Amino acid sequence: MTALLVIGDVVTDIVALHGRPIAPQTDTAARIAVRPGGSAANTAAWAARAGAGDVRLLSRVGADSAEWHRAELLAAGVRPRLAVDGELATAVVICLVDGAAERTFVTDTGAAGRLGPDDWVPGLLEGVGRIHLSGYLLFTEPGRRLAALVIAAAVAARVPVSVDPASTGFIERLGVREFLAAAEGTALLLPNLAEARLLTGTDDSVAAAERLSASWGEAVVKLGPQGAVAARGGTVLAHVPAADGEAVDTTGAGDAFAGGFLAARLAGADLAEAAVAGCRFGAAAVGVIGGRPPR
Ligand SMILES: Nc1ncnc2c1ncn2[C@@H]1O[C@H](COP(=O)(O)OP(=O)(O)OP(=O)(O)O)[C@@H](O)[C@H]1O
Ligand SMILES: [Mg+2]
Repeated sequence: MTALLVIGDVVTDIVALHGRPIAPQTDTAARIAVRPGGSAANTAAWAARAGAGDVRLLSRVGADSAEWHRAELLAAGVRPRLAVDGELATAVVICLVDGAAERTFVTDTGAAGRLGPDDWVPGLLEGVGRIHLSGYLLFTEPGRRLAALVIAAAVAARVPVSVDPASTGFIERLGVREFLAAAEGTALLLPNLAEARLLTGTDDSVAAAERLSASWGEAVVKLGPQGAVAARGGTVLAHVPAADGEAVDTTGAGDAFAGGFLAARLAGADLAEAAVAGCRFGAAAVGVIGGRPPR
């Protein structure tokens, strides 16, 4: 039982680096790159980079770019199972990065928003040791139904499920209580500090990790350049400093952390060792542009 199954979003990222502020109603020069992204897809790619041997991804894309995404995932060592939507195009995120590296996202969920129970293939569970859900899955109604189905199957098969809450904005829109209900039955939560604060109502990272792990089993709160705090059953087991590295683009740091962490757990690492691996891959991700490991 060594395979990892990741479920959630595949996204086409359009990253525009504009040195000057956007000028309304006329042109603003920018360097624009089109990259494969999506939290679930990035996590799967980083897990493969971190040494996980059998990484599967269940997602939904549009016919416009299905072949490109499939090829990119295969090249990253991921086994993609991509449902192709008959109407909607692949999700697109336009990421506007200004001269101070501040980012603004414009998001079209596209086909990813329709990922649901009809896309589930029970055979995907065969040989799986862990399942990871992108939080974006829990922000759509079909996604929550798929998550409920997968969590029930995983609990029956005694396979632990992890969740990255992904977005304070979307959690607030859905409601904290509804989000927590949608994630019920999962065994590991991987929030960043803002998400941990929102979900617990406490500002302190240690208290938040303790509180989340008391109800979840395990929780690892990611702290950006401050590393991560890992807790189990209400007790903090490790506070891991961030790994060294130059920050170029923080896109995908959390996904890389999850990929490195989950690959380590599948290889037998304990919670603290896996958090160290997560920090190593998180730091690697901030050193490259885009959310995927470099080729
Ligand atoms: N500037 C940095 N230097 C070194 N490591 C970093 C830096 N930023 C992030 N990391 C590593 O990446 C991990 C995840 O980053 P972060 O806490 O920002 O998660 P996140 O907010 O979920 O990321 P994302 O923006 O991808 O959603 C951190 O726990 C840390 O180990
Ligand atoms: Mg994140």
